[in-house]
Amino acid sequence: MIRTENLEVSYSSGTRALHPCSLRFEDGAFTVLLGASGAGKSTLLRALNGLVTPTGGRVVVEGIGDLTTRRALQSHRRRTGMVFQQHQLIGRSSVLQNVLTGRLGFHSGLRTLLPPARAEKTRALEAIERVGLLDFALRRADQLSGGQQQRVGISRAIVQQPALILADEPVASLDPATADRVLSLLHGICKSDGITAIVSLHQLDFARRYSDRIVGLAQGAVVFDGPAARLGKTEVSRIYGTKPAEATDHFEPLPLKTGTYA
Ligand SMILES: Nc1ncnc2c1ncn2[C@@H]1O[C@H](COP(=O)(O)OP(=O)(O)OP(=O)(O)O)[C@@H](O)[C@H]1O
Ligand SMILES: [Mg+2]
Repeated sequence: MIRTENLEVSYSSGTRALHPCSLRFEDGAFTVLLGASGAGKSTLLRALNGLVTPTGGRVVVEGIGDLTTRRALQSHRRRTGMVFQQHQLIGRSSVLQNVLTGRLGFHSGLRTLLPPARAEKTRALEAIERVGLLDFALRRADQLSGGQQQRVGISRAIVQQPALILADEPVASLDPATADRVLSLLHGICKSDGITAIVSLHQLDFARRYSDRIVGLAQGAVVFDGPAARLGKTEVSRIYGTKPAEATDHFEPLPLKTGTYA
């Protein structure tokens, strides 16, 4: 379980990207973050992995504590897989080499300079097989399609055997059919391995299809928190700042009190 306690992020530019929010992410749940551009989705995801330092509040991970010490951050990152929109693969390296980078956090100093041990390679090949790319393991990453590259990104995350996956718009640059297949793959792996997932998306239909829970952000505030079944037109317009048919003229996103829904 990972939770935020009054987590708040302001950038040095003065932008208040995240208003104090307290959210609890239960083990094994697949949470989708929705929000318009600039709503704070990436900021929240980055704060959950210590890539952004909170200006208020804290992130607490069960079994580790809060992420204020180097040691805590290191253990948390080791069990956290990241999946990015642009894959962030090394194009000229093979699929296998890319996936092996997911293991680097498990080795220190000199070991990372030596060739990977056989056990590591086996583990990486297993992770590649799970995303259906074994035949491409020795292919250069930049010779793969966008969907295949994202499957490599997923493979690199799962080779860590993570407890948590943070994915920032993992399918934003894919066509709808490929996006659906990639999300379905990510969702299936998280469910079968009991991995907690927090995934930002721009597509409402995918959010509805794959989430156990949706957290909607607007201008840095959580304005919706609940299962997809509760996400109606009014809630969608609250998240995206548009007017629903039934809304009045003026609309301001309300910073709701948030927490875990039952
Ligand atoms: N490194 C940064 N320095 C200063 N301001 C930033 C930084 N990163 C993000 N911001 C600002 O913080 C706010 C939230 O940005 P964030 O990237 O978290 O939004 P987002 O919901 O991920 O948007 P998108 O859907 O476009 O990716 C925005 O106003 C953005 O301009
Ligand atoms: Mg973003």
